Amino acid sequence: MTNAQTSNERADRLAALPIREELHGQEPYGAPQLTVRAMLNVNETTHEVPADVVEAITKQVHAAASQMNRYPDREFTELRRKLADFLSRDLPGGDLSAENIWAANGSNEVMQHLLQAFAGPGRSVMAFPPTYSMYPLYARGTYSDYIAGTRNADYTQSADDVADQIRRSRPHVVILTSPNNPTGTALELDVVRAAYEAAAESNTLLIVDEAYGEFRQPGVPSAVELLEGRPLLVVTRTMSKAFAMAGGRLGYLAAAPEVTDALRLVRLPYHLSVYTQAAASAALDHAESLMANVEKIKVQRDRIMEELRAMGLDPSPSDANFVLFGGLTDEKAAWKHLLADEVLIRDVGIPGHLRVTAGTEEETTLFLDSLRTFVGR
Ligand SMILES: Cc1ncc(COP(=O)(O)O)c(C=O)c1O
Repeated sequence: MTNAQTSNERADRLAALPIREELHGQEPYGAPQLTVRAMLNVNETTHEVPADVVEAITKQVHAAASQMNRYPDREFTELRRKLADFLSRDLPGGDLSAENIWAANGSNEVMQHLLQAFAGPGRSVMAFPPTYSMYPLYARGTYSDYIAGTRNADYTQSADDVADQIRRSRPHVVILTSPNNPTGTALELDVVRAAYEAAAESNTLLIVDEAYGEFRQPGVPSAVELLEGRPLLVVTRTMSKAFAMAGGRLGYLAAAPEVTDALRLVRLPYHLSVYTQAAASAALDHAESLMANVEKIKVQRDRIMEELRAMGLDPSPSDANFVLFGGLTDEKAAWKHLLADEVLIRDVGIPGHLRVTAGTEEETTLFLDSLRTFVGR
């Protein structure tokens, strides 16, 4: 085996392996990872991790290292308690407990656990594109069928339409995404309520993916408020975005305790390492300083929407830490122009559109200046 093999030779060798039929000719998920001045393509927090957070994580990871001869707490009890306390902030009058929480290495793994337990061979998963490009891949990886629903031309979803689509398809799992990636669109709770009622008729699990939940515009509620009395509702969150922990890999969900029991049946033993538990737990102790960055990011997000409009482009209203914008005649040329200026953003495959993550003030300025030059050519 040598590195000199051409990619065609590698592809031929891969095809000769006894891999599953449906994986033949497929591409793995992967956005470019390039080191440039403004890396605004995967919706990370680009602000520096606050010094108090770095210090707290270092201390707890240091302590965890002396216990690594033992398997970690399989139930990550302390972490679940802290996650429940954090989410309870979104719950006027109510409380979540550790029993309601599940976590894994990123919400990607949380979602995989959900589909392993509730979808699978002969079962189906429905989502509403344009949406997170991993959903069909989770379905593929769990041998489930993927049903692509539809949304309005402005990417919004109405309660009646979502409920109708669910009633017609009767999938085993429905994923709503709020705020949605790549469009930034948040859902009103009446949409989630109507989707739940329709889903419950076929005993369908309803997942609301709130990976960008902390970036919601003022007054936009979280589906966490609807958990009480809805045993088929799951709300997923992640520490990758608002908590600046994309590299730490910690995603979680809130649901009825029996949903978490179902996930215990499919998780691999000890899936959250002592280091992951220590780092996430320390970050949660410092949620306040991390949430201060969230407010700064929202300012840049709103600035992007405003300045793109002033350039004559068409940004979609965003409740997330990124903005999808249309109005480009050649999005590929725009993407290349930005990259030549060391600004990396995302081509999400929608003609005339690109998606940009809200960065620091300087990064956002770099992006806006570069794009302004492109548009003004
Ligand atoms: C809508 C949505 N859900 C889930 C994820 C997965 O994030 P992670 O696995 O880092 O928690 C992402 C990542 O970009 C996302 O955009």
